[in-house]
Amino acid sequence: MGDTSGIGRRTHYCGALSKELAGTDVVVMGWVQRVRDHGGLVFVDVRDRTGIVQVVCNPARSAAAHATAHRLRPESVIAVRGTLVPRAPATVNPALPTGDVEVLASQLVLLNEAKPLPFSPTETAEVAEELRLRYRYLDLRRPELQHNFVMRSKAALVVREYLHKQGFIEIETPHLTKSTPEGARDYLVPSRIHRGKFYALPQSPQYFKQLLMIAGFDRYFQLARCFRDEDLRADRQPEFTQIDLEMAFVEREEVFAVVEGLMQALFAALLGVELSLPFPRLTYQEALARYGVDKPDCRFAMELCDVSDLAATSTFRVFTQALAAGGQVKALAVPGGARLSRKELEDLVEVVRPFGGKGVAWLKVREGTVDSPLARFFSPESLAALSQRCGARAGDAVLLCADAPAVVAASLGHLRLHLAQKLGLIPADTFCFVWITDFPLFEYDAQGRRLQAVHHPFTAPHPDDVPLFASQPLQMRSQAYDLVLNGTEIGGGSIRIHTRQVQEQMFAALGMSPEQAQAQFGFFLEALEYGAPPHGGIALGFDRLLMLLTGARSLRDVIAFPKTQRASDLMTGAPAPVDPQQLRELHLRVL
Ligand code: AMO
Ligand code: AMP
Repeated sequence: MGDTSGIGRRTHYCGALSKELAGTDVVVMGWVQRVRDHGGLVFVDVRDRTGIVQVVCNPARSAAAHATAHRLRPESVIAVRGTLVPRAPATVNPALPTGDVEVLASQLVLLNEAKPLPFSPTETAEVAEELRLRYRYLDLRRPELQHNFVMRSKAALVVREYLHKQGFIEIETPHLTKSTPEGARDYLVPSRIHRGKFYALPQSPQYFKQLLMIAGFDRYFQLARCFRDEDLRADRQPEFTQIDLEMAFVEREEVFAVVEGLMQALFAALLGVELSLPFPRLTYQEALARYGVDKPDCRFAMELCDVSDLAATSTFRVFTQALAAGGQVKALAVPGGARLSRKELEDLVEVVRPFGGKGVAWLKVREGTVDSPLARFFSPESLAALSQRCGARAGDAVLLCADAPAVVAASLGHLRLHLAQKLGLIPADTFCFVWITDFPLFEYDAQGRRLQAVHHPFTAPHPDDVPLFASQPLQMRSQAYDLVLNGTEIGGGSIRIHTRQVQEQMFAALGMSPEQAQAQFGFFLEALEYGAPPHGGIALGFDRLLMLLTGARSLRDVIAFPKTQRASDLMTGAPAPVDPQQLRELHLRVL
């Protein structure tokens, strides 16, 4: 084990070395990517954050350096002093940005020797994710991941610059706080000083940013950490980051304009992509009707169409019974889908089953004819009208689902995505943003018993719908909106309630007694009585945005130290048991 004492300071990053510097004495430091022993000469590829450079150890130049190089293990950390020289034409490596130079080592110091590795961070072969997360610091040495974090850092800078230019003030809000409802479970922190009391980690800074509007800051933003104890998926982490913002005295349009400008700035700076503004909009109802989901992937068409009237003329009992029960029959044309085999088509029922779908009926449209098990239940004219209505052409398939409207929408919405992926119908390198507006204010909870807020309880109802709180809450529209990019929800926000009276009605509709509302949100209700300006805002999922900007497959590729599906950190071992003494101090006993 050596130190840098004899070698002096680093003069260059590996990736910065080029022919222009030939002849200079350089000192590079980094990780051993690869060692090749060519008898007399030892070649060492040294890697740092910026790139790789080849170091040549010639015993004639330094016997000591050559001897050390000879024993180097991959991923050990070294410092090298030497002369930068151009490579002989025959040995230039065009695959490497520094491939036309090399460092002739005069000194080589081993700063830290790496043990045999659990996996090589430079080999692209698939390594089990558990192992990668256990040794996350090795995993993070992969150039793709390094690139993602450079992008992430740049993105944060663009966000700050853009929002500062737009007059936003960056303000931090607490992590040790009271419950901030966003629909997930809270992470709780027990108080040592206050026996039996708990802080909740924020699911978002929602009421704090509203209080900042009441405080007169006018435009707030924060790269905010949020904590949600919920079922995890590829696009969900228990702690994640939002670009959180709030504006006073605004209507929806001003929030949209700020966010659209921000997206334009981000995509230009990070990808050199020029987005065209404004982004298209769909109401929630339109999105469900046309795409079956409230976060449509608009990179391709394949829209759903209602064929209930045509289905009503058929003798197919599945259809007529669904219609008689108040259901719908909708269809979807799949370009090129006629090449799917009968078995592939029959297996599509598995795609819809998780959404309550009971079956998928199909037609294959051929030149002048239609091939379908449904043919005997329909007149030829109805079948032709049906495929025409969906815009199906010869070579396409038409898929149909009959059921309650929500089941039909979810089934066809997911079939649409499934088949577009399977048949390669989604264009690459395309970014399709869409605003979804006019969400309902309430929905039933999973048990179908109580109302819950579709967004959160601070979302303002549509002004025309306020009288419906008592009579028809499920009919109420909200002033909430989501931003969707390529089928991923990357942001959500709303115009907020800014009077105590409406906020109380909202809590009451959610089943809270006045006492409960007072106990949980009394401080906030009170603040609404001391001069609360109309306000609204949005939070963008910074990690999700990064995932789309970098083309990463998982949020874990854009979060430095992510958690697994089971919310554990495989590197540190969190969550972990604690000392009994610590529990006693916190007045806790584990059952
Ligand atoms: P919402 O709950 O819609 O709104 O969150 C905003 C955005 O944050 C991202 N997001 C997540 N990203 C990773 N992992 C998660 N578990 C996760 N959950 C959400 C999504 C989402 O669109 N306070 C409101 C915003 C507001 O009303 O201004 C809020 O938090 O991209
Ligand atoms: P079955 O009568 O169950 O044998 O179904 C006959 C055809 O109708 C099969 O292709 C099923 O997938 C389809 N089917 C069954 N239920 C539905 C439904 N709810 N919507 C659309 N097609 C269905």
